[in-house]
Amino acid sequence: MSRFVASAGRLVRRPGEPDVIVTADDTGAADVAAHAVAQFLTGAIAARSRADWATTGGSTPAGIYRRLTAPDLRTAAPWHDVRLWFGDDRFVPSDHPLSNARPAFEILLARSALAGESGSGMTPADVTSLVGAGVPIPADQVHAFPVADAIGDGVGPDGCAARYATTLRESGIATTDGWPVLDLLLLGIGPDGHLLSVFPGSRTFDADAWAVGVPAPTHVEPHVPRVTLNPRVVAVARQVLVVVQGAAKADVIAQVFGPRLDPRELPAQLARREDAVWVLDEAAAAGLP
Ligand code: 6PG
Repeated sequence: MSRFVASAGRLVRRPGEPDVIVTADDTGAADVAAHAVAQFLTGAIAARSRADWATTGGSTPAGIYRRLTAPDLRTAAPWHDVRLWFGDDRFVPSDHPLSNARPAFEILLARSALAGESGSGMTPADVTSLVGAGVPIPADQVHAFPVADAIGDGVGPDGCAARYATTLRESGIATTDGWPVLDLLLLGIGPDGHLLSVFPGSRTFDADAWAVGVPAPTHVEPHVPRVTLNPRVVAVARQVLVVVQGAAKADVIAQVFGPRLDPRELPAQLARREDAVWVLDEAAAAGLP
């Protein structure tokens, strides 16, 4: 994969470490990250006519999704060949405020616009010209964790994760050492150093399944059960892109890039791969060694 050249920000490149692009603010980080998403997906499709993108949860992706729906980027990637997955989700239906799928549906895919409604009424999308619509990933290539079905069927997070792993396997995704190979894994980092829903000391490190249920964390919000891809997917992904914003993350970023390597206690260090790209705003990068 060709190295990403950022459109903005300053590059921090150190031997054996990921490229770190530091932007002035969160808007800049979202802009750089959106360009990176478009470039990496385009490269994957050029190479293999398919791109499997697992996106992240939390609050960070909303700005990235919004930037991707701007006309210049909305037409910049062959979206029809993209398969959208989720690295993790909260064990809530996709229309729940805490759902990680919800921002993707509402902003990236702008489903309400395509449905001819105006969504929240704040986006008077013109359905015919698709102005204000999202990126055109085919609906049958968008795979959220089937939480509502799992709840309806009375199966818990583990059952939901098992169903998701089956869908992922049946999609024909490539594998390395038996693990699914994502072309692009977009990640955020929690204040405790978690990524996906892999928390410090997580039992997911010992799981064999491609996706697993996670009990509700008590040390970070929101305190709801999760479903997550196995942390092994970070090591085999073709491209890892991490986006972290805000002063609240400065301490954990300093630890992640510090001298002590212990991914089980600091899962974000799984993404400290030489070929990964990290996009930080200045506030989050303040503690970088
Ligand atoms: C989740 C996310 C999680 C997120 C980080 C960062 O379900 O909470 O998947 O891994 O990426 O917690 O969250 P923010 O983007 O809100 O800082």
